[in-house]
Amino acid sequence: MTTPISINFVAPDIDAISALKGKVAVLVSPDGKIDTLARRVNRLSKGAIARFSESDEFTKLEAGTGVMLSYPAGMEADGVFIVKLSKRPTVTEARKAGAAMAVAKGAGALTVLVAGNPKAADISYGLALRAYTFDAHKTAETAEIRGASMMVNHPEEVAAAAGPMAALTEGVFFTRDLVNEPSNVLTTEDFAARLAAMQELGLDVEIIEEAELAKLGMRTLLAVGQGSTSPSKVVVMRWNGGGDEAPFALVGKGVVFDSGGISIKPAAGMEDMTMDMGGAGVVSGVMRSLALRNAKANVVGVVGLVENMPDGDAMRPGDVIRSMKGDTIEVNNTDAEGRLVLADVLWYTQERFAPTAMINLATLTGTIIIGLGHENAGVFSNNDDLCDDFLKAAKAENEGAWRMPLSPAYDKLLKSRVADMKNSCGRPAGSSTAGQFLQRFVKPETPWIHLDIAGVALLSTDSDLAPTGATGWGVRALDRLISDKFED
Ligand code: BES
Ligand code: MN
Ligand code: ZN
Repeated sequence: MTTPISINFVAPDIDAISALKGKVAVLVSPDGKIDTLARRVNRLSKGAIARFSESDEFTKLEAGTGVMLSYPAGMEADGVFIVKLSKRPTVTEARKAGAAMAVAKGAGALTVLVAGNPKAADISYGLALRAYTFDAHKTAETAEIRGASMMVNHPEEVAAAAGPMAALTEGVFFTRDLVNEPSNVLTTEDFAARLAAMQELGLDVEIIEEAELAKLGMRTLLAVGQGSTSPSKVVVMRWNGGGDEAPFALVGKGVVFDSGGISIKPAAGMEDMTMDMGGAGVVSGVMRSLALRNAKANVVGVVGLVENMPDGDAMRPGDVIRSMKGDTIEVNNTDAEGRLVLADVLWYTQERFAPTAMINLATLTGTIIIGLGHENAGVFSNNDDLCDDFLKAAKAENEGAWRMPLSPAYDKLLKSRVADMKNSCGRPAGSSTAGQFLQRFVKPETPWIHLDIAGVALLSTDSDLAPTGATGWGVRALDRLISDKFED
């Protein structure tokens, strides 16, 4: 797995600054004020920082971004990256500033002169999150930055605050690796093996194989995978850090490749369907973070791992399948497979664990991208309190999330001539009808959220805290929700 860069925190050493190698980052607040460490750099460089902070360019610069002063006189460093950041930045600004440092041209070895900025840990968090590269399949190394050191006023305190953030960074990287991995590598077998390996971290991991899934009656999940040579699996991950109350449940769609099945997708863009396990990827990343930071909460993560392929054994359009719950489904489109996987996994999770609340994540519909683009995940819920708590957590982490409607009015679109419901009902409100379908497998007494992450799991451009590709959207928001709900 991609390991985060190591960041160490050291006490300020004014005399060491002139001899620092590689790149040095300094902070300048929007009013032009600089701390003692930046003042030292200013003096060594004969006033370059002050001149920059008085320039038009500085006025126009967005907070949390910077410019590189290359090969400054008076210093051994190759460059000084001057970042505009207020003395009391928001969490989002501080992380953005750290991220800007991670991608400053040729960052290499980096020393960040933070001094007394109160968001030092968040600066390191942004730096670590943005310094991600997926080079598992590159024959030459592509990483720009190897490690960083931060000069901060209270290194032990900052290191303590950064500890849980480092656990989150690892969880996010675990998710990103899973989502970026091609489907010939990340088969259902490989995915399950990566999850089983997390037992070393103290997670309880159980892999349920096809024969057992058949006994349990998870026929809709098995139907999706029956055209693939990779066996379908359900993996249950448990973290018991919080006494004996019922767990909080996370459920993920893990379609390792979605060809559409017999209702096959068009060729253009089909390669992106390697990311159709994004929901399961986020669940796995959250579970990893919970274990790494030794969370005081009981959480169960359940993922359905299948591959949707066309084959002589594949399910056909028109097939009728009885779900584990007992409701029958007419499969009028084999490309609406995510809801078939989730129907059984949601039901199984409630039957076995009677969770206090349940959140599922899925790259469920292309339609959610039409509605919300790549800025927000769709949030569907049967419970206003839980939903508000989640939206608050997502906002605090700057992970876009927007509530979308569920309603009995959408439910009637699911009517089938031959079965209790059909799995696909055309374009109008396609994301809400998908949510409505899932809700049929949620007990009314279970507070529940469905997160449609089709638009946010993978991006074709760089974002603030991630390079192009998998984002790990949701790992931070869900971890925050769990810590707000159970640990404060
Ligand atoms: N995995 C797709 C949804 C998707 C689309 C994810 C684009 C990420 C990017 C899902 O299984 C699917 O194919 N959904 C269909 C549903 C339709 C057949 C009712 C869709 O959105 O077109
Ligand atoms: Mn599909
Ligand atoms: Zn899919």
